[in-house]
Parts: sequence; C-alpha cells; structure tokens
Amino acid sequence: METKSSRISGFYKLPPEERLEKVADIRGLSDEDLSALRDHEVSGVGLADRMIENAIGTMQVPLGVATNFVINGKDCLIPMAIEEPSVVAAASNAARLARETGGFFTSNSGPIMRAQIQATGVSDPEGARARVFEAKEDLLELANEQDPMLVQLGGGAKDIEVHVIRSDMGPMVVTHLIVDCKDSMGANAVNTMAEALAPSVEAITGGRVYLRILSNLADLRLTRARTTITSESLGGAEIVEGFLLSHTLAEVDPYRAATQNKGVMNGISAVVLATGNDTRAVEAGAHTYAARSRRYGSLTRWENNGDGDLVGSIETPLAVGLVGGATKSHPTARLAVKILGVESAVELAEIIAAVGLAQNFGAVRALATEGIQRGHMSLHAKNVAAAAGAAPEEIARVVEVMVREQEIRQDRAEEILAEIRGGGNS
Ligand code: MEV
Repeated sequence: METKSSRISGFYKLPPEERLEKVADIRGLSDEDLSALRDHEVSGVGLADRMIENAIGTMQVPLGVATNFVINGKDCLIPMAIEEPSVVAAASNAARLARETGGFFTSNSGPIMRAQIQATGVSDPEGARARVFEAKEDLLELANEQDPMLVQLGGGAKDIEVHVIRSDMGPMVVTHLIVDCKDSMGANAVNTMAEALAPSVEAITGGRVYLRILSNLADLRLTRARTTITSESLGGAEIVEGFLLSHTLAEVDPYRAATQNKGVMNGISAVVLATGNDTRAVEAGAHTYAARSRRYGSLTRWENNGDGDLVGSIETPLAVGLVGGATKSHPTARLAVKILGVESAVELAEIIAAVGLAQNFGAVRALATEGIQRGHMSLHAKNVAAAAGAAPEEIARVVEVMVREQEIRQDRAEEILAEIRGGGNS
C-alpha cells in the first residue's frame, strides 16, 4: 500500500477520535480494524481470560501514535503503549528533525535466537565439548523435527556452539542451539527444541542436563538504526557540544547509562508493548547487551560528523515477532501492526530501534537545554486538574491557568475550579 506522509501538523491538538480517523485514513484501515479500540467487548476480560491464568479484568495503558517518522525512506506512524507523559511527543519531535536529513536508516543481523542446554557433572568437559560438536548434524536434525513448519519457511536450527563454563559447582558444558526464528519471536520454538535435545546432550556428555531454555541475550538478533540531526535544526554548535557532553557521561558512567538507556527503552518498550511483544525479553536483552564489555554503558552513540551535525546510532538485540503470541491474538496489537504496516519481524525490530534512538535524542536534547520538567507540565497539569475534580470540559481552562501561573498543585486547581463554577474569570 502506498504510504501517505507521517507528517501530520496539529495532530496533537485533535480529539482522540479524530486522531484515530486520521490514522485510519493514512493507513487505509477499515471500521473492523478499528473495533479493537472502539469495541470493549473485543478487548475485554474474555480476551484476558484466554491470555493468562486467574484473570479478573484488564489494565488499560494509553495507546498513542508518534508522527513524522521516515525509516529507510518510508513514512511510518508509530503506535506506542505507555503510561508516561511526554514520551510520544518527544519521539515525534525528534523524528521531525531527523526527517530533514532523510530520517532513520537501519540494518539487522537476522531473526536468530540461541538456546542453552546446560550439562552438569561432566568429568571430561573439553572432551564432551568436542563430542557435542561431532554430533552437530544429528542434533540439528532432531531440533528441526520439532518444528517442520518453521523449517518449511526457511528457518529452524542452523548451528551449535559449545561453551565450557567453570563455576563454583564444577565445570558445565553449555550447548547453544542457534535457531533462525523467521517472523516469530521464537521462545516457544526454541525452548521446545532445547528440551528435545536434552536427552541426547546427556548421552553425549555423560552429564546431567538441568536448564534448557533460550537466552534473552539475543546477541545474534541485533538491530541497528542511525540518523543525522543538523546543527542548524538543533540550534547551533553550542547546543551540539552540550548534547555530546551530556551523552558522553552515559558512555563512561553506569549511573548515567542506566538512566539514558531507560529513556531509550521508553521508546522501545512502548512499541514492543503496543505490538503485543514481550517487553521483559527485550529489556533483558538490551541491558545485558549494554554490559557486554563488562562495564554497563550506553546503547546509543552520538558523534559530531565533522560538519558540526550530530550522527546518532543504536545497536541492540530486539527479539520481537509478528506471528504467535499476543501479537496475533490481541486485537489492539493486530491494529498496531497494521498501523506500522510491517511485513516481517526484522522490519518491526528496525522500526523499534529507530524509535529508541529518537527517544534518546529527545531526552538528551531536553536535558542539555531546558530540562525535562517543562515538557511534562501541561500533561501533569491535566492530571492534577482531573484529580481536583474537573469535568472533561473544565480541564483545559484549569490547565491553562495553572500553566500560566506555573503553579501546578491540586489546591490551586480546586480554587480555579471553584472560580470557574462560580462564574469567575480565572
Ligand atoms: C525519563 O523517563 C527518561 C529520561 O530520564 C531519559 C534520560 O535521562 O536520558 C529523561
């Protein structure tokens, strides 16, 4: 389908239903597609009861759409599920600046996961390692028998690695099964294969297998994105310098790296959640990858390109899928995938990486200039007005006064409300 521009001016000023209509128009969505958001029967407790045990209801999280993204030359609207104010706005603003230089460009290392099969109590671990390698073809065949469908699609178990790991409880021979998961996240396929291989690994190593499970350090499933932000659009060389100095602390100090990466994950996890993927798997992979050189560092890099402009890049594991799991069974996740218009898991991962980079840019720019609190003000004020008892039609007036006075407190909101209701002209 031809993609219309993701640059929608004044999108944020529209009421939610009109925003949804705009998104539907741009992405060619039908009324049936939109029922996931309009019809609560479709996404209510019945669905929850099929998804988890002991369900008693659902916990709603706002779903927003970030605008302005161009990724590999294609305009994209980005669905984001997140409870935190300012995240969607910051991503959209960053994407607006990035699109001036062509937006984001991405690559990936393929949808490859690894599983671990841990053999313990092995008396000759190095010999056992060699024997596991000798049995590679048989092990791969056995693994692939577990998922003929994946194999038919060109995926399946492709290789093994064998690691001898010394521990306080003796050496362990840990066989890694390397699996191409195609468009699935792969947890089910990979774990089934690992469990099927355990008896063979026991026989080959002479050890006892306990753990047989995928690794969330999906370092063979890396996704990269890069962008350029011009010095001019940032406001000049001094701001570029401040940005780079602010970012550099995350490169060298884990206290700052944790916070900066949390900002990256604001963007990443919001799209992961919106598309029904596993936020914890992606978070675990990202943070472990950030510590791969034994010191926890930044997931992103920012440089001056020599012309004074900023070049940003990100590389992170992104284990997300389009088939299986909630992505297919949850109507809102299905709608989110349609809004994105992605056709493969790697394409989804690439968009997610671009959003993480955009989010990081937005946060560091704010921190290097005016700070992040100002951006939070008006949404925060909306919440304070609602908590003070303002009806939907009263909220805007209460917010306007509080933001103008820079006094965002519930007692002040209550006073303003009383004045409005009493016919006052606050
Ligand atoms: C807040 O959710 C995220 C930030 O702390 C990220 C950062 O500090 O880079 C603003």
